Amino acid sequence: MNRCLNDRDINMTILLADLLADLREDHRNMATMLDLLERELKRIRHNEKPDYELIHDIMRYMTVYSDAAHHPKEDLLYAAMTAEDPSLAAGLEKVEPEHKDLAILGETLRNDVEAIASGATVTRFRLVADMTDYVERLRGHMSWEEADLFQRADALVATESSMFVSISHLDKLDPVFGPEREHSFANLLQNIKDLAES
Ligand SMILES: [Fe+2]
Ligand SMILES: [Fe+2]
Repeated sequence: MNRCLNDRDINMTILLADLLADLREDHRNMATMLDLLERELKRIRHNEKPDYELIHDIMRYMTVYSDAAHHPKEDLLYAAMTAEDPSLAAGLEKVEPEHKDLAILGETLRNDVEAIASGATVTRFRLVADMTDYVERLRGHMSWEEADLFQRADALVATESSMFVSISHLDKLDPVFGPEREHSFANLLQNIKDLAES
């Protein structure tokens, strides 16, 4: 569960250290989503029927939560790094365009499965290409953040251990891993449970 932002206090600020912990937890949850997408991708490549409902649930989660809440939280972290220590800011200008590209790739894949659900034709080639693009690009982006940007953020947290940032404009709680799980994600939650037990 995202313990930090979901347990936010009344004055709507959060320790930078807790924000960073929250972002790492988001990444673990997003990696689970990518594992599930890859499992379905394998099924398609083996000419088996994938679980389109599951792919749609994953992409709904990724577009309504990850794009809309995770990335704005990262913006707060990266802005703090830039403001506090410009030596930590190298390459941060690449984050925004990558987030935009990922949002477009996510919307494209979500549109594919919505088109399939409505009876429209989406070729297997296109679906495989769009799923592969999304999984590879997001995994690459998260790896960069974890291996480089979050490590630099650790350095800032080490020197500014009592630094708080305002999260008053962030009002989206995690609908799958947060305290109030949306009923519409029941199928996704079951798949996450099954994956963890497999
Ligand atoms: Fe990011
Ligand atoms: Fe991220």
